[in-house]
Amino acid sequence: MDHSLSSQARKSGDRYPRKPAIRLELQDAFVFLSELKPGSVDLIVSSPPYCMGREYDTSGRVEDFIADHEKLAPLLVNALKARGSLCWQVGHHVRSGVVVPLDAVVYQIFSRQPGLSLRNRIIWTFGHGVHASRRFSGRHETILWFTKGENYEFNLDAVRIPQKYPGKRYYKGPNKGDFSGNPLGKNPSDVWEIPNVKSRHVEKTDHPCQFPVALVQRLVRALTKPGELVVDPFMGSGSSAVAAALEARRFSGCDIKKEYITIARTRVAAIEAGKEVYRPADRPIYQPSGRDAVSKRPPHFTSLR
Ligand SMILES: C[S@@+](CC[C@H](N)C(=O)[O-])C[C@H]1O[C@@H](n2cnc3c(N)ncnc32)[C@H](O)[C@@H]1O
Repeated sequence: MDHSLSSQARKSGDRYPRKPAIRLELQDAFVFLSELKPGSVDLIVSSPPYCMGREYDTSGRVEDFIADHEKLAPLLVNALKARGSLCWQVGHHVRSGVVVPLDAVVYQIFSRQPGLSLRNRIIWTFGHGVHASRRFSGRHETILWFTKGENYEFNLDAVRIPQKYPGKRYYKGPNKGDFSGNPLGKNPSDVWEIPNVKSRHVEKTDHPCQFPVALVQRLVRALTKPGELVVDPFMGSGSSAVAAALEARRFSGCDIKKEYITIARTRVAAIEAGKEVYRPADRPIYQPSGRDAVSKRPPHFTSLR
């Protein structure tokens, strides 16, 4: 079974679509959202600033994250189509070792919006990050997927993944002996292991906090049709724009920093030129061979345990 990006993209349009409409604006998210035509967006997917005092943050206080989200929620819902989706990717706000799970904060605010219903809380897990010494090292963030209305788009077949045991058969009942799995693959579940964008990742740019293209690509494939409109109001280096371009969707996004818009434009231009400047969604996660020096246990590790 062919789960490659090219086969998926061929089904949904072109591999490298000839210039779907991609709009990348230098703008404040609140202004950008309030200027969108009400009821015009099929999917909003974004990762807002976590108020952690990063170079692009204007605050280090979770109270400001809450206040911003109280203002964002009605703007986001207003921009969505009646059957549209809102995917909000957040991690944890950490100050002096005290953790606030930001999805809990977002859920409290977004679920109060009339018409929004939570469909999944997706765990995005990855192998690398800061090593904590007084708590367990954080290796996941989350995506809250809300829909506006009940009649929402969900194309599961577009994002099925290979089964672990595709040769499994029914062992009783009327179909006894027949293969029991779906020939298109299985549901990818709500726990997604996708490498995060660290220094040697093919997608790494000068943006300090990118999410991987594959993370957005699965959402775009499942929650929209080719030609539909994807929006990211905090688009940073443009990972969502790249995913939309790869999947032949229209895109509109903004960021408040000029240098990130330049990065996003460069990335989208590379995709439109047919360059593979992204990690394919179906590439297996690297497993150390055990033969290279870096994956061998130094002798003193053994003696110390
Ligand atoms: C977590 S990053 C998003 C990264 C993005 N997902 C990517 O893959 O590159 C949040 C972004 O929001 C931008 N930002 C912060 N405040 C903003 C505002 N008021 N309007 C628009 N963008 C803003 C920051 O410049 C930053 O690039």
